[in-house]
Amino acid sequence: MEVGVKKEMIIVLDFGGQYNQLVARRVRECNVYCEIYSYKIDIQKIKDMNPKGIILTGGPNSCYEEGAPTYSKELFELGIPVLGLCYGDQLMNHILGGRVEKAPVREYGKIEVMVNPSSPLFEGVGSKAGKPVKSEFDLEGHSDNVNSTQCWMSHNDYISKPASGFVSVAHTSDCPVAAAENREAGLYAIQFHPEVLHTVEGTKMLGNFVRGICGCSGDWRMDSFVETSVKEIKDRVGDGKVLLALSGGVDSSVLAALLSKAIGSQLTCVFVDHGLMRKNEGDEVEGVFGKAGNFDLNFVRVNAGSRYYAKLKGIEEPEQKRKIIGEEFIRVFEEEAKKIGKVDFLAQGTIYPDVVESGLGGESAVIKSHHNVGGLPDYVDFKEIIEPLRNLFKDEVRKAGLELGLPEYLVNRQPFPGPGLGIRIIGEVTAEKVAIVQDADYIYREEIGKAAEEHKKNFGVEPSWMPNQYFAALSNMRSVGVMGDERTYDYAVVLRAVKTIDFMTAEAADIPFTLLQTVMNRIINEVRGVNRVMMDVTSKPPGTIEFE
Ligand code: XMP
Repeated sequence: MEVGVKKEMIIVLDFGGQYNQLVARRVRECNVYCEIYSYKIDIQKIKDMNPKGIILTGGPNSCYEEGAPTYSKELFELGIPVLGLCYGDQLMNHILGGRVEKAPVREYGKIEVMVNPSSPLFEGVGSKAGKPVKSEFDLEGHSDNVNSTQCWMSHNDYISKPASGFVSVAHTSDCPVAAAENREAGLYAIQFHPEVLHTVEGTKMLGNFVRGICGCSGDWRMDSFVETSVKEIKDRVGDGKVLLALSGGVDSSVLAALLSKAIGSQLTCVFVDHGLMRKNEGDEVEGVFGKAGNFDLNFVRVNAGSRYYAKLKGIEEPEQKRKIIGEEFIRVFEEEAKKIGKVDFLAQGTIYPDVVESGLGGESAVIKSHHNVGGLPDYVDFKEIIEPLRNLFKDEVRKAGLELGLPEYLVNRQPFPGPGLGIRIIGEVTAEKVAIVQDADYIYREEIGKAAEEHKKNFGVEPSWMPNQYFAALSNMRSVGVMGDERTYDYAVVLRAVKTIDFMTAEAADIPFTLLQTVMNRIINEVRGVNRVMMDVTSKPPGTIEFE
């Protein structure tokens, strides 16, 4: 298989459901490549990608209400198999002329579902064991040939009449159409959630869809990417020298690990610690890639914090701060590169979304000048650029990282901007403010991590509120407070937590209030210089995710 090229792809259209990431995950567990897109994606883009199948996720709305997320009917006429899940199942039937309405009984939780094993969706699913639930409903397609299987239901609406051409192929005692199919048109709909583990045979059902119905061969594997890339890099680099600016972020870390596997000590990684990293982060990066780590490479750490603080002294304007941080990075890197001398290759951790974004003209760049290593080529003496990750998507990069033996906490890190805490401190950046925000952020991340872990242990899935990005920032506001019997005049920490897929738009994550209170208490008690903790609930737009 050609590196990074997805010859068989499933597209997941996200309608806002809490389990959509799980859908993608389960599809990949079937060794079929898949990508998630917002339901707002243009149909032409879908046609251009030419997927083997499309899955519509669940969502919180009622599809018959005005303004509810919807899609063009054309989607179902492309000749590409479509599977709707929960909201997606209702929406498909609604668009195609079926009837969706509020269900008389709200089904929630683990429920025994009667499935028809002669449907391609349910091939090999369920067993005859137990007494079949009697159907109260006389719908076309219902047959006595039913198996029972445990599924996870969570719905207020239901399909009371499937669209023309569909037959019901699953039911429960309260739901006449727990699944429906229009086999001829390649359209399938499931009311429950096959993607969550409580649906015991959910992955089998999704496998039936992506392999059986869509015809994917299921040969997508991350280890094949690593293997092929290592060989390609070896062939291309020969005995040449490679230089990499390692930020400690996911992409450059995975690239370092991949290059190390391919060419070992022909690789030099320069890690510029700009003093704006999260708490302990610089040491963590050094722990993984430095002498104590397991990777064969040359690791150079430059502790440039005080240089950056000096440059940032008195600077309050966000864009100026970003510019200074970016320029200083290039200067420090250039100095180090000079020490190393001529190299043959400069490696860059460009990944596919970067390629796409720059191709589109980079709308976000107008809002904030992003600090990436794009500016480096002008400053380093090298012959060629290598970008082995340029065809990969983020989660593929993460998989490759795990495959390469990187620690999970590093591989699954949330995004962290190049200018680091410099853009999470409003106004002037000082060493004191950096220390405050580092400590507050550490506590916040620790508490969210603990709560999420606990939830996962109990329910087998991440909590629905789990943010895609969360951090503490430091406002430039000081206000009066009271601590013990003393008046205080200290900073306010702002907590941010957002749910987003593409980071272009975002909603504030619904973090449990008790969790926020725990975080607030710990920050006030453990971080000196803070007497207030605030929560930023702004969506994007109008807010951005970062503060500056
Ligand atoms: P904003 O703040 O623009 O952030 O809503 C969207 C996403 O981009 C990240 N971000 C950056 N990443 N360099 C980066 O590499 C940057 O300068 C930068 N600014 C924002 C941000 O963390 C969020 O994930």
